[in-house]
Amino acid sequence: MNIKIISSTDRANSNALAVSNYVSLLYHQEGIEAEVISLEDFPIADVIGGRYGEEVESVQAFNKPIVEADGLVFVIPEYNGGFPGILKLFVDYLPFPKAFEQMPVTFIGESAGAFGGLRAVEQFQMITNYRNALQFSERVFIPRVNIEFDRKTGLKDDFKQALLESQVKKFIAFVSNNT
Ligand SMILES: Cc1cc2nc3c(=O)[nH]c(=O)nc-3n(C[C@H](O)[C@H](O)[C@H](O)COP(=O)(O)O)c2cc1C
Repeated sequence: MNIKIISSTDRANSNALAVSNYVSLLYHQEGIEAEVISLEDFPIADVIGGRYGEEVESVQAFNKPIVEADGLVFVIPEYNGGFPGILKLFVDYLPFPKAFEQMPVTFIGESAGAFGGLRAVEQFQMITNYRNALQFSERVFIPRVNIEFDRKTGLKDDFKQALLESQVKKFIAFVSNNT
């Protein structure tokens, strides 16, 4: 099974990347190698000025493992009450209409604030819904991420940690049932 975890910001040393790496370990514990792909590596310099619909080699190479995945986990921080701009740019350079079509996807939000990226995730869900992705609805939200998340041990709150572990197990089953 080919699951990819998308760290959905280009901010260096992001919490999204730390959470993604931790979640990848949880998948590993379930016997699934879930590689992390960071939007820090999206070749933004190659699309300056707008190269929509063109065949940009670096973009195609970046997108290939994502388009070929069986399922995607988006780890999304909240920026200004929404998801980061780089995430929309990335989606706008995915092949249309193929990318996300019937693709199992799920979501983890994180933020400094009290709502754990709820707004960011729900806004991004509208986009994946438009692109006919199959949404696994047990989302996980990490509020006050700098306090509540530890890079080695995960979420300090036992209930939220259980939700995260449950999402991992159930998303594997969801992907399995939909590929
Ligand atoms: C541009 C920007 C906008 C932000 N806007 C919000 C916000 O609207 N709500 C919030 O709770 N935190 C906001 N934050 C704080 C981030 O949610 C918090 O620092 C988060 O951990 C950043 O995620 P990252 O480390 O994955 O980039 C913002 C941070 C940045 C860089």
